Amino acid sequence: MAARIIGTGSYVPDRIITNDDLAEMVETSDAWIVERTGIRSRRITETGTTDMAVRAAKKAMENAGLPPEELELIVVATSTGDCLFPNTACEVQADLGAEKAVCFDLSAACSGFLFSLNTAKVYLESGAYKTALVVGADTLSKTVDWSDRSTCILFGDGAGAAVLSSTEDEQASWNRGIGDFTMGSDGSRGGCLTCRSTELCSPFMEEKKTSGFMTMNGQEVFRFAVKTVPRSIEEVLKKAELSPNDVKYFILHQANERIIASVAKRMKQDTAKFPMNLAQYGNTSGASIPVLLDEINRKGLLKPGDKLVISGFGAGLTWGATLVVW
Ligand code: ACO
Repeated sequence: MAARIIGTGSYVPDRIITNDDLAEMVETSDAWIVERTGIRSRRITETGTTDMAVRAAKKAMENAGLPPEELELIVVATSTGDCLFPNTACEVQADLGAEKAVCFDLSAACSGFLFSLNTAKVYLESGAYKTALVVGADTLSKTVDWSDRSTCILFGDGAGAAVLSSTEDEQASWNRGIGDFTMGSDGSRGGCLTCRSTELCSPFMEEKKTSGFMTMNGQEVFRFAVKTVPRSIEEVLKKAELSPNDVKYFILHQANERIIASVAKRMKQDTAKFPMNLAQYGNTSGASIPVLLDEINRKGLLKPGDKLVISGFGAGLTWGATLVVW
């Protein structure tokens, strides 16, 4: 049994905030942001995570040609759901009318879509379910302090989705499908990128722990990314007995153009094999990989048999890479 991606979809909000807009709010400039990150603008939602997730999911279902009643599993990768409960996946289920589906959210920040894709793959390969919808949706705009120039310039909102189906063909995971993967976590370094969502308080506590905005040690995250991403990609290619030259596209989490260029250099690969859309959208966390995958798919750039490596990294710390044969 193997799992294949049979459809993709994405949604970004209409509202565009440019670097010049931010320069009116904090002491920064378009030149600084472009030089250090490659980001030129970002989209900001006024409707929230569930709405974006539903819009991306509907496009993916349409692209896959799968009726919602045939969906058996929905996993939403998000760290910024509208509610603590119900989970975002249940809200997506209700809107789609996917009555049969089992629904849960998965929290792994910017690695969330990759972790969710691998989770759904394993469920499908086990035979537990035949179809799955995997969504990455995040509203980072509500987690950043818009007066902190070191973080507010980096992030945007959006959602992307992929529909998966299992196939009986035992060779399919090699011929076509979601193949080998590697994932990792290091909670001991979690402090370099954090955001507490709710206050910890009760009448029984003397001191409450307040919620707050995102805090980030940018340089530490940068160093972590440029070291870990090439290593995890090489690990997954080794498992699959492939070389980087066999890969058509490396679809990396869209955090910073310099991180992606550094990974390409370390792997001795042309940056043209590392598509990017962070200039328009910034870092959309769990949404960045599926939004990019959908853009590439809809441009008709993917042919059956093309090999892609998807790579995510982010808060936790968490990271991973997955081989997809289209
Ligand atoms: N505009 C102008 N100046 C700024 C800005 C800004 N927006 N932000 C910081 N500066 C200043 C700093 O105050 C500092 O000034 P100083 O030298 O007088 O002290 C100077 O610019 C350099 O600051 P650094 O932090 O050293 O800048 P750096 O080159 O490291 O770039 C950045 C910062 C862009 C955040 C970089 O470290 C980075 O991209 N790190 C990775 C962050 C990331 O990708 N996070 C998310 C990944 S995980 C996830 O997706 C959730």
